[in-house]
Amino acid sequence: MLPHTQNLIMQTIQSVNEMQSHAISMRSSGRLIALVPTMGSLHEGHLKLVDIAKDRADKVIVSIFVNPTQFGPSEDYANYPRVLEADLEKCRERGVDIVFTPSVEDIYPKGYSTYVSEEVVGSGLCGVSRPNHFRGVTTVCLKLFNITRPDFAIFGQKDAQQCAVIKKMVTDLNYSAEVVVGPIHRDEDGLAASSRNAYLTSAQREAALAIPQSLKIAQKMVSEGTRSVDRVMAEIIHHLSLSRRVRVIYVQIVDPTTMEPVREIVPGKCIVCLAAWVDQVRLIDNAAF
Ligand code: PAJ
Repeated sequence: MLPHTQNLIMQTIQSVNEMQSHAISMRSSGRLIALVPTMGSLHEGHLKLVDIAKDRADKVIVSIFVNPTQFGPSEDYANYPRVLEADLEKCRERGVDIVFTPSVEDIYPKGYSTYVSEEVVGSGLCGVSRPNHFRGVTTVCLKLFNITRPDFAIFGQKDAQQCAVIKKMVTDLNYSAEVVVGPIHRDEDGLAASSRNAYLTSAQREAALAIPQSLKIAQKMVSEGTRSVDRVMAEIIHHLSLSRRVRVIYVQIVDPTTMEPVREIVPGKCIVCLAAWVDQVRLIDNAAF
């Protein structure tokens, strides 16, 4: 007899209706469900969220959906990496129960016209440089929640503003899922894992390392007593400007719940968020003080 492994029983569901009725019946039989929403091209950062999901719930659903409504017209929707077979294999190895891979037509049928938008937490930082991005994220996440009925929705701190926006949406709309945030996973060289890192050449990746390095410098300044927002931001910008490939989109020190800029650094109560272009690749990162 074959050994009983999770690999053999992982289900892949494409249909929204089938996923929803399956989720409803899992819930009614008392199973705790965790959802890890992703856009695929899975890396260790995503898979660590799967581990968190497995610790919390009986059934782990990973959704893989490159969501068109969160990309701007000049962004990388068409070129976003899509590697479904490899993703399914990673999910199988990690013990995921269900991979939900809906089509764009099933999520946004012809004539679709309802959007959810959080209007404060998502308005600064990436909300400025990517108008409508968070509206697309909240809309698809609420739809994924309604389809998969999670007790726990697992997100990564890598996208700190996304976490804050989703938490606000869940609170404001009285949604019953608990939002759980997993820590940033970094590759060995310090760069935060991201599906977009696949776009980087090795020279660009080398240049991108200025991002985590600048955050480390900032953390060291704060741990050594600096409390001035201006001084810490200036140091980060200076470090990033040493590489001719890196162009800063924003650097801000903010409250992690409201995403509002703070006036003074209070350790334990603020994070620094940054976005930068490394040549044509847009990367984000953040660190807590
Ligand atoms: P995606 O970029 O695929 O990320 C899916 C989840 O993985 C997000 O919660 C993200 O914060 C988390 N994640 C990515 N890289 C990480 C890292 N290095 N460490 C920890 N967590 C990491 O974020 C999205 O997709 C989409 O906006 C989505 C929420 C799926 C809505 O379409």
